[in-house]
Amino acid sequence: MFNILPQPNEILLSAEGPRFVLNSETGITKKPYLSEFLDFVKREFDVRLHKRAEGEQQGENEIVITLTDEIEDEEGYRLSCRDGAVFIYARQDAGAFYALQTLKQLLLQSKGNVPPLLINDKPRFKYRGFMLDSGRYFWTVEEVKRFVDLCALHKINVFHWHLTEDQGWRIEIKKYPLLTEKGSHRSHTNFGCVPHGGFYTQEDIKEIVNYCHERFMKVMPEFDIPGHVVSAIACYPELSCFDRNLDVATHWGVKHDILCAGKESTFQFVFDVLDEILELFPDKLIHLGGDEAVKMRWELCPLCQKRMKEEGLKNEEQLQHYFMSRVNRYVREKGYTSVMWNYDGVDGTDYLDRDIVWQICGMSDNSNIVNEELKAGRKMYNSSSFPYYLDFPYGWVNLKMAYDFEPGMGENMFGVEAPLWTEYVPDLKKADYCMFPRLGAIAETAWSQQEDKSYERFAAGLPEYFDLLNAYDVRYATMAQCMPSKLRGKCQSTWWNRRMLHWQGVHNFIDDAIVKSKVQKQK
Ligand code: ACM
Ligand code: ZN
Repeated sequence: MFNILPQPNEILLSAEGPRFVLNSETGITKKPYLSEFLDFVKREFDVRLHKRAEGEQQGENEIVITLTDEIEDEEGYRLSCRDGAVFIYARQDAGAFYALQTLKQLLLQSKGNVPPLLINDKPRFKYRGFMLDSGRYFWTVEEVKRFVDLCALHKINVFHWHLTEDQGWRIEIKKYPLLTEKGSHRSHTNFGCVPHGGFYTQEDIKEIVNYCHERFMKVMPEFDIPGHVVSAIACYPELSCFDRNLDVATHWGVKHDILCAGKESTFQFVFDVLDEILELFPDKLIHLGGDEAVKMRWELCPLCQKRMKEEGLKNEEQLQHYFMSRVNRYVREKGYTSVMWNYDGVDGTDYLDRDIVWQICGMSDNSNIVNEELKAGRKMYNSSSFPYYLDFPYGWVNLKMAYDFEPGMGENMFGVEAPLWTEYVPDLKKADYCMFPRLGAIAETAWSQQEDKSYERFAAGLPEYFDLLNAYDVRYATMAQCMPSKLRGKCQSTWWNRRMLHWQGVHNFIDDAIVKSKVQKQK
């Protein structure tokens, strides 16, 4: 019996017939997307597969890839081991690529000796995302590629790349060089004394985008507005209300200085930056953030208040909707779809364009509006913080909770995404611990059919899953860590909550007082 993750739609084992035996003569149909598979086979079996032209393959122990319209789903595939050879059928290359991910697991579990079998497989959701926060901690190009490879292994097809944050601006924008010269470095990190920084040149970005495309993964950059922009304000104070002089943020926590929605120059900045970003990311998806935009500066700012009056907006929430919709129209003109978080304060959507896709990060408080918007036709995908935020301690979201969660169906809820926020994830070791095996659980919801979901079956297959992760040197959480006892869970949770000790609260309090006194003086 095989334990393939994510669980394929159908696996039929046959008792009779010769087996496929991986050996030094084995060939595979030449395709442009084989290199990672070839590396895997070399690493695990010390076999270098021979690349063969289509139609040249005959006899046993070959891996034959054929594209055919007989497979209906664009990402689906059929993998058949018969007459001692492995035959992969797919409608498109993406399907064949996913078949190779399945084949890796068949090879590992059979020690390169695959019995006759038939697998029919296709994804449940069109959108299967993973988000990497490069803002809090910078990840090198090589590290990003490793994340991408691990995602491809899980048949994930969207890389959502969070590139701008209070704590660091990570993408080179030629028109605004300070963003990376200054905005990509912070003097220290929370209570640590160590400076931190880094950014991706436009060439780095192109390299990563190509790397993702070779793995049939779209790339969606995130330029988070109007909040989470302290790193940009640190470079260009005029972007904020009251032209505030700030440093790149060092501590975590929600900041109160956001983009000024009253100045036309703010919109010009956003459009200029988008011009360069969209050019680098051809997949026609752009995430505009929209989360955690505290409105207290807007309430005090004469320019923001003037804008509200002119546009007939009743409150600052509506001002944010005006802001997001205006930027949405700009990117839509260029053929892009914009995405935003369904942030905490969404309470009516009269001014929020319906063609903005929502990434669900919290359902509990806003479920009514989520359901209303779904009915009204807004498209969404689910990355509900509980249980899809991969950085949360296992004491909050254990493996079973991540597995059992149902993201909701209906054609407007078209996918799921697992974000890795990195406030407490400074290196790959910690990233591995947080992500695995939870990402495996979420990938199964994203790919496998709902009726095939079973935590018991999934848990029984974990030894084979861990073998697969070992082949990639992943330092996953053990069962004791990801299904912690009450006491261990409590300890994990308490340690995570050390963030409550941050200076951010005090810092915001003092900052708010400074802004208020300035406004009063001007009156
Ligand atoms: C979020 O959790 N800041 C979307
Ligand atoms: Zn303002």
